[in-house]
Amino acid sequence: MTPFVFVSDLDHTFVNHDVEEDRQRWELQEKLDAHRQKYGTKIVYATGRSPQLYQELAVEKQLISPDALVLSVGTEIYMQGSDTPDTEWVNLLAQNWQRETVVKTAAKFPELKAQPDSEQRQFKVSFWLEEEYSEKILPEIESELRKYALNIKLIYSSGIDLDIVPANSDKGQAMHFLRQRWEFAAAQTVACGDSGNDIALFATGESRGIIVGNARPELIQWHHQNPNPNRYLAQNICAGGILEGLNHFGFL
Ligand code: GLC
Ligand code: MG
Repeated sequence: MTPFVFVSDLDHTFVNHDVEEDRQRWELQEKLDAHRQKYGTKIVYATGRSPQLYQELAVEKQLISPDALVLSVGTEIYMQGSDTPDTEWVNLLAQNWQRETVVKTAAKFPELKAQPDSEQRQFKVSFWLEEEYSEKILPEIESELRKYALNIKLIYSSGIDLDIVPANSDKGQAMHFLRQRWEFAAAQTVACGDSGNDIALFATGESRGIIVGNARPELIQWHHQNPNPNRYLAQNICAGGILEGLNHFGFL
């Protein structure tokens, strides 16, 4: 068996919020932890959550401790046990990022409702945007922000969440950064997800991808439009789909 880098989104991917006791997640956690101890596999959670909301979930669901955490939709990386964001990553994102300009520009759009303060981060400005407005509004916000030649990217997920982040940060670029730091090949890296902010995890070609069976339409649609044999669409939902995919690729 060879070690691999396991990267997973949390909400509705690793964690099923619709069941009381998620046996498949416990099975997955045990298998991953055993693989880590025996072969040196790395476990990474990649979530849109801030440190505060991540902590709440980690305690509530008793998540196994990861080797690195990718929080705030890829804009913050924490190496194991550290509560300060990785400075190398911070310095990369800080180039040409002007948070104040993003906030001021977004204020021109009444359709955008600010998310709670805990979710507003150094490199992430987040709103709720109703799906019915999104098709019209997203290109308008983007072109408004482009006027300032800012290094930005819009990530829209689950028909409601809008994150505005530096162009060189998303879950996929954070995964790439960790993979290089740990010196793992792309083919020994697997990412799992269910929604729009996970698309970046699957967009890197060579690494393996698992889309869980309960994935959101935005991700399924993207998957069909961008076919890739390194990506597996599972039948089972959440952790069950992850186990199915890990077996499919022969990681477990
Ligand atoms: C999490 C975050 C939220 C973000 C969303 C999508 O729910 O708390 O701020 O918009 O993920 O990335
Ligand atoms: Mg999710």
